[in-house]
Amino acid sequence: MTEDQATDVLYPVPERLLDPTQCPEPYISSMEQYQEMYRESLDNPDQFFGKLATELLSWSKPFHTVRHGGLHHGDVAWFLEGQLNAAYNCVDRHAFATPEKIAIIYEADEPNQSENITYGELLRKVCQLAGVLRARGVRKGDTVAIYMPMIPEAAVALLACARIGALHSVVFAGFSSEALRDRIRDAKSRVVITADQGKRGGKTIETKRIVDEAVKECPSVETVLVYERTGADVPMTKGRDVWWGEEASLHPNFTPVEEMNSEDPLFLLYTSGSTGQPKGVVHTTAGYLLGAAATVKYVFDYHPGDIFACMADVGWITGHSYIVYGPLALGATTVIFESIPTYPTPSRYWELIAKHKVTQFYTAPTAIRALRRLGDDWVKDHDLSSLRVLGTVGEPINPEAWHWYNDKVGKNRCAIVDTYWQTETGSNIITPLPGAIPTKAGSATLPFFGIDLAILDPVSGKELIGNDVTGVLAIKRAWPSIARTIYGNHQRFLETYLKPYPGYYFTGDGASRDKDGYIWIRGRVDDVINVSGHRLSTAEIESALIMHHAVAETAVIGAHDEVTGQCIHAFVCLKPGVSKGPAHATDLNKELVIQVRKVIGPFAAPKKIYLVEDLPKTRSGKLMRRILRKIVAGESDSLGDISTLADPSVVEVLIAKVGSS
Ligand code: WT7
Repeated sequence: MTEDQATDVLYPVPERLLDPTQCPEPYISSMEQYQEMYRESLDNPDQFFGKLATELLSWSKPFHTVRHGGLHHGDVAWFLEGQLNAAYNCVDRHAFATPEKIAIIYEADEPNQSENITYGELLRKVCQLAGVLRARGVRKGDTVAIYMPMIPEAAVALLACARIGALHSVVFAGFSSEALRDRIRDAKSRVVITADQGKRGGKTIETKRIVDEAVKECPSVETVLVYERTGADVPMTKGRDVWWGEEASLHPNFTPVEEMNSEDPLFLLYTSGSTGQPKGVVHTTAGYLLGAAATVKYVFDYHPGDIFACMADVGWITGHSYIVYGPLALGATTVIFESIPTYPTPSRYWELIAKHKVTQFYTAPTAIRALRRLGDDWVKDHDLSSLRVLGTVGEPINPEAWHWYNDKVGKNRCAIVDTYWQTETGSNIITPLPGAIPTKAGSATLPFFGIDLAILDPVSGKELIGNDVTGVLAIKRAWPSIARTIYGNHQRFLETYLKPYPGYYFTGDGASRDKDGYIWIRGRVDDVINVSGHRLSTAEIESALIMHHAVAETAVIGAHDEVTGQCIHAFVCLKPGVSKGPAHATDLNKELVIQVRKVIGPFAAPKKIYLVEDLPKTRSGKLMRRILRKIVAGESDSLGDISTLADPSVVEVLIAKVGSS
């Protein structure tokens, strides 16, 4: 039996979700209704999205043109002539209507320190910080770097930027000072918002110190704004560093928003591609916000009163769309979780759900796998009855993890939504809908509204029509929340996404459509590695390793890992004259791991390093990572044609090396 057949069971929508005495009626409550709306979204997109944008967003000036341009020329534009502000949509309008409603539940690192922030309070905090930024000279179109722990102020920082029309560029606080420096420089940010320290799993993180290190080499930075998370005595550079608390108290509790055009950029967010240079993906105000809001409503079936808990970090797109913009645009209560799933015990998630009566819970397969391995006892005796929708994102979920999530967490009475999307898509694009789409364990199922997907033959680029096909995943037309460009490099945007298959947006993922038309994501077809849902490029890690003085050459690949999905294996050739003796090798191994941690961040550290004499290359010098991947996977008997290698004998040596380590 193939994997597909083993997992080909269709699980109907849980009856409880369709029972009005137990749950609010889902917005989409049958397959027919989904199909009808999906058709409508493709046949009459102007009407469909025009209506949605009017229903879900508030406009200071109405739009007249729903769509313009497209994938052929890379001139996508939505909701033209319209004006709005994302912070107004996420904060003001709810603060005016329901000032006492809780906007943010802050679940602090120590479980007994949670706090609630109402919409009224959130508006005051956002306005004061917006005042600080304006006073520091930040204007519409400027970029502000944000390097913060998972505290409510991270959301306040995003929204304050949005309020004054500045683009935020959030850098995940797991990145090293060098990675932060490169991103600040690329975006030419004038202000960095950070905290004195971070707290995570009981450990203290020296956040400000990392920022100090980074900005040493960033001439654009005029201000470092420091939030007092722990109150530690951290060094402050006179004239440059200021305390958030002191500065904010100088500014009024209300300040007007900057009216933005629909296509004005809202933020940039760096992500890895197949080259060593990270890309600053740019999202625009109206289209992005609509995508985030519409998917919280339909994919998570958000109803007023629900408590929405996304466990991602604000430093990734999932945090942007499903902690901040999506839930707040709908006036929801969103959870900001500062800790880790195993602190103080592996029951932390389940305690959080019971304590706050969470209705939608969103996490990654890697977390599910890690918790599953620790045993069912940790999840058993918690009241998880408030849950209706369980989401997963970041990588394909294996059926075992899917079933565990469904049985042990969802008790077979919740919808499981395996949401496929990317930094570039802005919001979920292939996903089940809780009340409508039967699921299969491991399939992201069917496209969201407006997503006209295609599976292409990777070589000819021809669309593979019908069911039972496998190829690369592409999208045939623009949807509102598709990224518009790469910051400062539109050419690279076109080349990466729109030129590989003209007329299509190319995702970089392989996919199959099974006999029922369900989509199965097969993983990246480019040199991108996915470790615990964190996206890394082989080239990025290779260029970190090559900076080490002993390294002549290196090749990095993704290998299968039970918990993290993939992990990093690095093949390293040393420079002539560098000692390779076993004692020295252990030290070198450590140094190389430190090297990667320093240049990128701890999450990019290789799990295995092989010191080798030579790498498999073609006669023209192209590195054959495919061969290394096969050797590591134990598939050396199916390497394919190796006669094109400059020196085929390299392969035997590598097989022996990998086998013995
Ligand atoms: C890549 C995008 C989008 C939020 C998190 C990651 C993989 C994402 C799924 C899923 C299979 C998935 C893809 C994609 N991916 N979600 N449900 N099933 N694969 O965002 O860092 O931009 O990474 O993550 O390979 O291309 P990202």
